Amino acid sequence: MSKILVTSALPYINGVPHLGHMVGCLLPSDTYARFMRMMGNEVLYICGTDEHGTTSEVGALKAGMDVQAYCDMNHARHAQTYKDFNLSFDFFGRTSTEQNKEMTYHIFEQLDKNGFIEERVIKQVYSIDDKMFLADRYITGTCPYCGYDKARGDQCENCTKVLEPTELLDARSSISGSKNLEVRETKHLFLSLPKIEGELAAWLKTKEPFWPDIAYTIAQKWLKEGLKERCITRDLKWGFPVNKPGYEDKVFYVWFDAPIGYIGITKQWADEKPAERSWKDWWQNPKEVRHVEFMGKDNVPYHSITFPATLLGTRENWTQVDFLKGMSYLTYEGGKFSKSEKRGIFAEDAVKEFPVDYWRYWLMANAPESSDAAFSWELFAGAVNKDLNGVLGNFVSRVLKMTSSKLGDKVPEGGEYTATEEELIKTLQGRINDYIAYMEAMEFRKAMAELRAIWVEGNNYISVTEPWTVIKTDEQRAKVILRVCINLIRIFAVLSAPIMPTAAQSMLDRLGVSLTGLKNFDVRTELSVLNGGEKFEVGEPLFERITPEKMTELKQKYGSTQ
Ligand code: 2FM
Ligand code: ZN
Repeated sequence: MSKILVTSALPYINGVPHLGHMVGCLLPSDTYARFMRMMGNEVLYICGTDEHGTTSEVGALKAGMDVQAYCDMNHARHAQTYKDFNLSFDFFGRTSTEQNKEMTYHIFEQLDKNGFIEERVIKQVYSIDDKMFLADRYITGTCPYCGYDKARGDQCENCTKVLEPTELLDARSSISGSKNLEVRETKHLFLSLPKIEGELAAWLKTKEPFWPDIAYTIAQKWLKEGLKERCITRDLKWGFPVNKPGYEDKVFYVWFDAPIGYIGITKQWADEKPAERSWKDWWQNPKEVRHVEFMGKDNVPYHSITFPATLLGTRENWTQVDFLKGMSYLTYEGGKFSKSEKRGIFAEDAVKEFPVDYWRYWLMANAPESSDAAFSWELFAGAVNKDLNGVLGNFVSRVLKMTSSKLGDKVPEGGEYTATEEELIKTLQGRINDYIAYMEAMEFRKAMAELRAIWVEGNNYISVTEPWTVIKTDEQRAKVILRVCINLIRIFAVLSAPIMPTAAQSMLDRLGVSLTGLKNFDVRTELSVLNGGEKFEVGEPLFERITPEKMTELKQKYGSTQ
């Protein structure tokens, strides 16, 4: 049994998660965590809200609330949304806790002691109308590298280049829109990335064969361009006050304490049951722990460069990221999701419209892995109607209804396999081995295509064997076929559980069995778990079709270009 630490990028507290966020890190990490548990591993799955920075200050200001109260309220809202999406976090914490402060201070002290922190007087943008220094994210302008006119002062989301706000052309305050900005001098602390560059490059080299292209390429691009010192303090009130004399009126930059938040949140988890849990078992145990991180591609530089360098600079034995799954973006009906423009479906609304497994299935089947993916209501309804309802749901109802009406509500007994069953076992074993290998490799689209193909094998089997005809002349043969089909339902439930936990449970409940694991999955053995005589229930249809009327309603409600 291996220890697998799974982390999902920590969502900004003031953001309202939409489908792009769900598929950009939260759902793939959950699917992977569930899958790795079913493979018999010891998994710790950590996430939480990223609470510092000006975005929270501005969000609270707009809401007319104190920042702490604003964060408390939004944390609860995020937690509820992820619960509704059935995310199986072992702990969903926060970055603004005492535990994270302690961790941040410790890491900073080590970096400072080891000579990786430098003091500098810098020029920062001050907004005269807003009466404040503007945090990088709150300056908008034109990217000097690609010309994108809505680049933010910290990063251009178009070309992913990390920016200094003073590099922006035609800069303006994102808070008031004012161009009445001036550059003022202020003293700050910098993480000296150039001093760690060589060591970091050597570390990254060890990841080359394992990381997906998207993550490795972004990290390499950064290294090739040469690393610069990064400012890790800010002139703000909300955040951890800097623990260094002369800097007490400044706070750490949100991107300094956010990744440390993974560790702080693990400590929050451990502090709940100190006799049983230890954060060091996970974070200071690189030999025994495999750390897998999920995030959108804009986060990759921070987790492949800045954070690993931060940990290296402490000269302590931290668990570093072993595999970084960077995801591309999801577009909504050919454009961007936008809360203010009321475009796109946000996670809170999604779960009100359809059972969460419909979303989980579509999003994972269309995960933006190697390139961006597009959400459209047509594609979504097509997958629900065809794959879920037409293939899986139909197989389950057909098999259980037929067995119940012809043979009663017990799994049929007796009889021998024929060449058809032997063939089925062979085909399924191959497909299931592939499915498991894709899931282990986090190649989700391929895994999902394989899962769908496995369900189709069930339909093919019943079409070829025609139990409804056979039963008229050879009841025993029909019993074998239907028993195989009922066992297929159980197998489909187990295989689908990491993606569609609720539907999987509903399938298992009909058969009166519990979820089993996926390690050393042997189709022949799995096909005889229900050996005959066990009671089952037909139950309600697993999924419902999405009608054209519903589609019209959804497009009107959430915006559509089609
Ligand atoms: O992009 C984001 O949503 C960031 N809040 C992710 C932070 S991940 C980690 F560093 F905390
Ligand atoms: Zn750019």
